[in-house]
Parts: sequence; structure tokens; C-alpha cells
Amino acid sequence: MELLLDTANIRLIREAVSTYPICGLTTNPSIVSKEKRKDFFPLMREIREILGRNRTLHVQVTRTDCEGILKEAEAIRKNIDEDVYIKTPVSREGLKAIGIMAKNGFNVTATAIYTTIQGELAAMAGAKYLALYYNRMLNLDIDADSVFRSTAQAIAMSGLDCKIVGASFKNIMQVTNVFADGAEAVTVPPELLDQAMANPSIAIAVDNFNKDWKTVYGDKDIAQL
Ligand code: E4P
Repeated sequence: MELLLDTANIRLIREAVSTYPICGLTTNPSIVSKEKRKDFFPLMREIREILGRNRTLHVQVTRTDCEGILKEAEAIRKNIDEDVYIKTPVSREGLKAIGIMAKNGFNVTATAIYTTIQGELAAMAGAKYLALYYNRMLNLDIDADSVFRSTAQAIAMSGLDCKIVGASFKNIMQVTNVFADGAEAVTVPPELLDQAMANPSIAIAVDNFNKDWKTVYGDKDIAQL
């Protein structure tokens, strides 16, 4: 299981990395634009510094033609590092670029996946991660669980070195659903993780444990015994 962050906000990244078991981070042009920082590469390098080299960083291209995607991929590697995953939408041109990048040793994350065939083609082209858009599928009346399951099954049967990263989440139940559907990774906005941990039942349970403890041990904690 891998938990990735779906944000480019430095404050939220710092907080989340020190709290949650984070394995990496994804961005897309909308997420980056929200930060209103013109200095794109310094922002990406700042994110890399917080993540370290042991977590994965997935940076999305903006060009839609194969040649443009390849140029952006080179620029991303040059200005960040060679470990970065080049996040590329699975359009016809994107798929062509994914194949070329994979052959040339680039790490690729295929994205904007709404259908099983998109995922299968990207996996065959050499993508290492497939970002399947759970909530956006639901918005289109696509059976998202079925797309996740059939893609996971196809990858497992092929033996390809490729993981599904569930993306586009609006609530935590969607996140747990995709793990049950066979996704190996999820990318989640940190706000959603914080919401899940703000469940009042957790605080009530902890308060009750402490009340019971005090009936025997008073104000002393375990370290003071
Ligand atoms: C991440 O890879 C995706 O770009 C992102 O999760 C999409 O999320 P959205 O559907 O909320 O825009």
C-alpha cells in the first residue's frame, strides 16, 4: 500500500509528511496553479527537498502533442532530477509519448484514466503507475469500482511492473474502496486525511480510556510509574 499526497502546498506537505506514512506526491497543472507561484521549478525542487529521494514525485506535463510532451519531460528531469515520474495523460499523443519515454528510461505515470483500455494501453507502453480518476468516473456515471478491478486484474495477469494509483477523491470512503478494488497506491489531498483523523469517536474513545486509567493510577502516566 502506498499513500501519496495530491497537493503542491508547501505548508500542507510539511505537515502531512511529518504525520502520515507518505510514499510520494502527485501534482497536475490545476493543483500547481492553485499555489499562484510563477517559479514552477523552484517550487518543485522545494517539494522534492521535503519529500527526499526515497519518496516518489510525479510531475504532470502541460503539452498535448507528443513532441511537446517529450520536450517538457526533458526539462522536468533537467530542472528537478532523473527520478521524477513524468505524469502524462493517456490521450493518443500521450500514449505515444509514454512509449518513447519508457523506452528511454524515464519513469512515467500515466494519468487522466477513465477506462480500462486506457490503463491497459499505458501499462503495455511502459508506464510504472496508472492514475485512475475515481470521483471523475462517478461524475460521468462510469462504474469506477469495475474499472479499477478490471485494470488491477489485467496488470496482475500480465506480470507487468505497473501499479494503479487511485486519484480524484472527494471523500475517504472512495479511497478505501479503491484499495479494496486492487489499487496499490492512492493520491489524496491532505485535507481529506485530516478530516478522517478528526473523527470525534477517536477522541471520545481516548477520553474514556484515560478516565478509567485515572480511577486506579491518578494523574501518573506510564512513564511516571
Ligand atoms: C492526480 O493524479 C489527479 O490529477 C487528481 O487526483 C485529480 O483530482 P480531481 O479530480 O479532484 O481534479
